[in-house]
This record gives sequence, structure tokens and C-alpha cells, in this order.
Amino acid sequence: MNAPNQWQLSGNAAERYERVLVPAIFAPWAADLVSLADLRPGERVLDVACGTGVVADLPPNALGQGVQITGLDLNEGMLEVARSQPSPAGAAEVVWVQGSALAMRLPDASFDVVLCQQGVQFFPDRPLALREMTRVLVPNGRVLASVWEGPTPYATAMWNAVERHVGADAAATLRKSRAGEDPKALQHLMMQAGFREVKIVQRTRTARIRAVGDFVLRHLAATPVAGTVEALSDSVRMVLGGGRSQSVTALCRRRWHYLFRMCQRCDRRPLSRPNDV
Ligand SMILES: C[S@@+](CC[C@H](N)C(=O)[O-])C[C@H]1O[C@@H](n2cnc3c(N)ncnc32)[C@H](O)[C@@H]1O
Repeated sequence: MNAPNQWQLSGNAAERYERVLVPAIFAPWAADLVSLADLRPGERVLDVACGTGVVADLPPNALGQGVQITGLDLNEGMLEVARSQPSPAGAAEVVWVQGSALAMRLPDASFDVVLCQQGVQFFPDRPLALREMTRVLVPNGRVLASVWEGPTPYATAMWNAVERHVGADAAATLRKSRAGEDPKALQHLMMQAGFREVKIVQRTRTARIRAVGDFVLRHLAATPVAGTVEALSDSVRMVLGGGRSQSVTALCRRRWHYLFRMCQRCDRRPLSRPNDV
């Protein structure tokens, strides 16, 4: 896996992320993740790499009675959008924390559950981030983390179009979002970080997007390459959006398949016995 770029958005890309990508891509997966977590009433949940707060925005009946959410993210812009969202009716107040998953300024053993949707692939030191998760979890707490399994036909077509019309650097930045670990490597990392009962779950979901050329441009405007794409001439942007090129448009009409992996119910071993698997 190449060095992660931590997927940092700037300017108003975070607002676009919330408006365009959360409903189209991330919200349905967040509902899945939470349903697998099977949260119990009053549990304290830490959402690591929370972005614009897709988990906290789920309706209280999806989260569970009295569940308390803390969202942590590196990017202040994402958190600003998270803070500005109206809380769903009946939801407990969310605590938002700016910081790195590698050094969370949160007390030991203060959460029952850690969630992390599409964040692990961006952490520059994944073993350290996973150890941080074990530190903030209560004994027998659980972690559910998801990463993409490789690209979809849509992602491949978009990256190729970006490579051709924008440049290799921009395409490489985008490709890193799906540079996941293979399941066995991920499982190994979790075990090394002190988890046991590491379970990998693979899921596929199909997304159907209308007016895909337009969506491609709105999608890119909600990524770390937003500024580069915005600076392109109108004619290049038109080609990129499929105006004269068939590449992105044709492939996007296929179904999208997302494979979803997670570590479920990863009980924390006592930190004093790190090799006792
Ligand atoms: C693809 S977004 C996922 C956001 C959210 N979980 C969702 O599903 O919408 C990746 C997030 O990881 C965050 N991130 C990247 N590196 C991080 C780090 N070292 N510590 C905390 N957050 C990080 C980014 O700021 C970004 O918000």
C-alpha cells in the first residue's frame, strides 16, 4: 500500500462531501455499520475519522436508546460541517473532537464501541491507530471498521479519466482512497493491535446514479483534488464529465459493487498481556 494521504479536504469541499457523497455513498454504509455494531442502550461510541458526522446523523432509532456519540476527525473543515448539522430529533448531544487517530486526546477505557467507516486506509501508521482504539476502549469493548475492497467500475473509469485529463498526481491521490489491505492482512493487524475474535465481513451494495457525468464533477469537487479540478478549463471539465468522452459515462451505467470489510466484536485483551492471543 502506498503512503496514505489522510484524505484532507479544503475550502468548501467538506460541504460538498456532505451534500453529494454522504447521501449517494456513505450514509447507507453507515447504517449497515451501526446495525452490525448492535449498540446497546446508553453505550458510549467513538466514531474515528467521523468526517461530516454520517454516523451521528443516523436517526436515534437506528443508533439505539441513549447512545452517546463522540466524533473524532483530523480535518476541522469536516467537523465544522458536522457541528452545523441539525441533530436528528431525540438524539443525544454529540461531542466533536479535532485530532488524529494516531494520538487521540481521549481518556483510557472511556468507550464501549469504536466505529471507523472508511478511515483506516488513510492513517499513516495503522498499527498505532489500532492500538489507540484498544486504549480508549473498555475491556471487552468492540471495534467495527470498514474499508473498501478495491475499485468499482465507476472508480476505475473516473480515475482513468482523471489521469488522462487532469494528471497522474491527481489520479494517484484518488486511487489511495481504495488502496485497502487484503482481509488477512487486516485481520493480522487487528490481532497485533491486541484484538481477538477478529471477524471479516464482506458486503456488496449497488449504487445507481443518474446523470453520471454531472455526478463525476460533483464527486471530484468533494475530494482532495477539488482545487485542481476547479482550476481546469471549462472544455476539459466538460470532457471529464463525459461531455465528449464516452469513458466515464459508459462504465458508470454499470452497477456499482462495494465490498465491505469490517472487524466485528473485536474484544480488547488486557494491555498488560499483549501477546496472549
Ligand atoms: C472518506 S472520509 C470518511 C468520513 C466518514 N467516516 C464517512 O463515512 O463519511 C475519511 C476521513 O478520514 C479522516 N482522516 C484521515 N486521516 C485521519 C487521521 N489520521 N486521524 C483522524 N481522521 C483522519 C479525514 O479527515 C476524512 O474525514
